[in-house]
Amino acid sequence: MNRYENVGKAELKIGDKKIELPIYEGTENERGIDVSTLREATGHITVDPGYMNTGSCTSNITFIDGDKGILRYRGIPIEELAEKASFIETAYLLIFGKLPTSEELTAFSNGLTENAPLHEDIKKFFDGFPSATHPMAILCSVVSALSGYYPYSLDPKRDESEITSTAFQLISKARTIAAYSYRKSVGEPFIYPREKFKYCQNFLHMMFSYPGEDYVPDPDMTRALELVLILHADHEQNCSTSTVRLVGSARTNLFASVAAGICALWGPLHGGANQEVMEMLEDINASGEKIDHYINEAMKPGSTKRLSGFGHRVYKTYDPRAKVLKEAFHRLVHGKSKFRGKEELLEIALRLEERALKEDFFISRKLYPNVDFYSGLIYNFLGIPTAMFPVMFAIGRVPGWIAHWKEMRETKPPRIGRPRQIYTGPAKSSYIPIEQRT
Ligand code: CMC
Repeated sequence: MNRYENVGKAELKIGDKKIELPIYEGTENERGIDVSTLREATGHITVDPGYMNTGSCTSNITFIDGDKGILRYRGIPIEELAEKASFIETAYLLIFGKLPTSEELTAFSNGLTENAPLHEDIKKFFDGFPSATHPMAILCSVVSALSGYYPYSLDPKRDESEITSTAFQLISKARTIAAYSYRKSVGEPFIYPREKFKYCQNFLHMMFSYPGEDYVPDPDMTRALELVLILHADHEQNCSTSTVRLVGSARTNLFASVAAGICALWGPLHGGANQEVMEMLEDINASGEKIDHYINEAMKPGSTKRLSGFGHRVYKTYDPRAKVLKEAFHRLVHGKSKFRGKEELLEIALRLEERALKEDFFISRKLYPNVDFYSGLIYNFLGIPTAMFPVMFAIGRVPGWIAHWKEMRETKPPRIGRPRQIYTGPAKSSYIPIEQRT
């Protein structure tokens, strides 16, 4: 049952003035002080760089308990979804708030299949990028450009069916764009999606098959891809999702809002960390023994270097997604799949994790492996190149971004996101003519 209840009051004293602020409690007993009247009542604002203590919204979509390592989509534990659901079912759950019936799932799946191909003109975009372009740059540019091809999506007063059709475009085409950006980067022809394939099979087909070949997606690989996408599908108010909400709060269309989310995700502290992890594991593998080097660099006082794939703003214990991925990778390595990645990298990752978790630096700061630490190993096993890893994260996160954009737009009253600041620049001064400046 969804809950948002007034459970008491907090008192705030500023000088002689005392005000009361309501305390609200959510479904899982998380509490927040509502400061929405603070400035009007006192002339003060709250200051919270990095939003460490700021709840920007209420949300029905995803619950995280960072101390206990719990992650649930619409109440369902991530471990259960990872074991039993498909990515498409999970996307439906996030966007529409419930698991689909078999009819709903079929209709949703058909909608995705119909929207998988790109407009022929969009293919020309890929020729315009220099060959060394990062695939995230291609993904965010082409996703943003989709708004030009589907202009009905620009009307902010859309109804549910319009959101659904834009969701089809985004979820389905993000995958096609990603696969095309890979084909372009290796100088191979674009492969059209095929109707007979489901979502993950179609991605593998567009990535790895050849024209005229009767490609048969490997079931182990398909399931592994399904799993990583499910684990990435949402993570409440993270940097990219908050970006999508903020951009969308200006009534910006869903394509442009999601493109902004892709840009935010690209950063190495967010979705770009999976690429950094793989580059580190490859470097350790190539150079013999550099595990200590990476750990010591991250621990050096005053160092800005981070151990990629470790630490999380919310999780102060093992990231539950990393746990599922680690087990899945073990299964993949020891399974019967005909596809093989660099198994020795798992060994290195395990040693690195073990070594880091012996250090007081990591223990005292509660820095554990996060989702990006193990996801890259699976991508590598699937044959996906390292620069594409953040793109894979983005494909998985599209349903979460859509769900949050939709929830934000349905929230009443609709408000543009607009934080305040404390100005610390020069006090009032006058314009100095150029000849008098020193
Ligand atoms: N390596 C070394 N030190 C770290 C790390 C790390 N990976 N993460 C945090 N710290 C230290 C940090 O230096 C600080 O130490 P001190 O208290 O001495 O100044 C302390 O831990 C707290 O760090 P913070 O920067 O205040 O923590 P945060 O909540 O702002 O940052 C984070 C969270 C994920 C950005 C950070 O842990 C990090 O940079 N990790 C590496 C990048 C990474 O793996 N990102 C993927 C996150 S999970 C997927 C996603 O959602 O994007």
